[in-house]
Amino acid sequence: MTPRAGTAAPGRVTVVTGGASGMGVSICQLMAANGYRVAVLDIDGGGAQRIAEGIRARGGTAIACEADVTDRAAVDDALRKVRAEFGPVEILVTSAGLVGFSPFTEISAQAWNRLIDVNLNGVFHCVQAAIPDMIAAGWGRIVTISSSSAQRGSPGMVHYTAAKGAVVAMTKGLAREYAAAGITVNTIPPSGIDTPMQRQSQAAGHLPDDSVMARAIPVGHLGTGEDIAAACLFLCSEAAGYITGQVLGVNGGSVI
Ligand SMILES: NC(=O)c1ccc[n+]([C@@H]2O[C@H](COP(=O)([O-])OP(=O)(O)OC[C@H]3O[C@@H](n4cnc5c(N)ncnc54)[C@H](O)[C@@H]3O)[C@@H](O)[C@H]2O)c1
Repeated sequence: MTPRAGTAAPGRVTVVTGGASGMGVSICQLMAANGYRVAVLDIDGGGAQRIAEGIRARGGTAIACEADVTDRAAVDDALRKVRAEFGPVEILVTSAGLVGFSPFTEISAQAWNRLIDVNLNGVFHCVQAAIPDMIAAGWGRIVTISSSSAQRGSPGMVHYTAAKGAVVAMTKGLAREYAAAGITVNTIPPSGIDTPMQRQSQAAGHLPDDSVMARAIPVGHLGTGEDIAAACLFLCSEAAGYITGQVLGVNGGSVI
């Protein structure tokens, strides 16, 4: 991927959760191509390693951190590694996520708790572990990846939708709490992005195939990880310093 004008920030230390798959990969690659030093954090340690190696092979700077975002000790360990290799965390992007499909009356307490744990508590752990560095520096960028399901509701995935809605609310609360500290906090709620998560959901029959989905998207096609990464790169740049607490839909016009 090539750098974009006005977005380069040589050396800014960036942690991307869920960086081993889907839009997390695109975010890691675009940030690295623009001079950011990237920590690819994922529960899939081998995948994170492969993505970091690929970035280094193209001249970027990246390390892999294996961590389950629901495990606070593991997140703290991962950030210790980031600080030892790169220094304090300046940017955090939370893309790690888990989807689930079930009629509401059939959602078990276990399934409910698991989706809340990964999609909401995981964001809590990562933000709380990383933000002290940003407070100390008087500068920071946090981008959460939520979901359009939090904006318009999605039947058959109320647990997922509830978690993502809470992420949107959490983003706004954090934005107000830390605006004066020089830290911006924004959320990108994607919709219809072609990733392994989406393809697995389609293969399992939970989502329609590409052509049916495309007909329901105003621009007429699915989005890509690069679409998300472009928005993320902008929100993490100096140029976006006056933007905080915002919900930037990247959805082909699906939610307007
Ligand atoms: N694809 C879409 O259209 C879409 C739409 C709305 C929201 N989202 C959200 O975007 C984000 C990225 O989704 P994607 O489509 O790229 O999915 P993906 O499944 O391709 O990637 C998700 C990554 O998160 C990692 N992960 C999962 N649980 C983890 C945990 N406990 N700890 C650390 N890492 C963990 C996975 O290993 C994987 O690498 C997710 O939060 C998802 O809910 C995606």
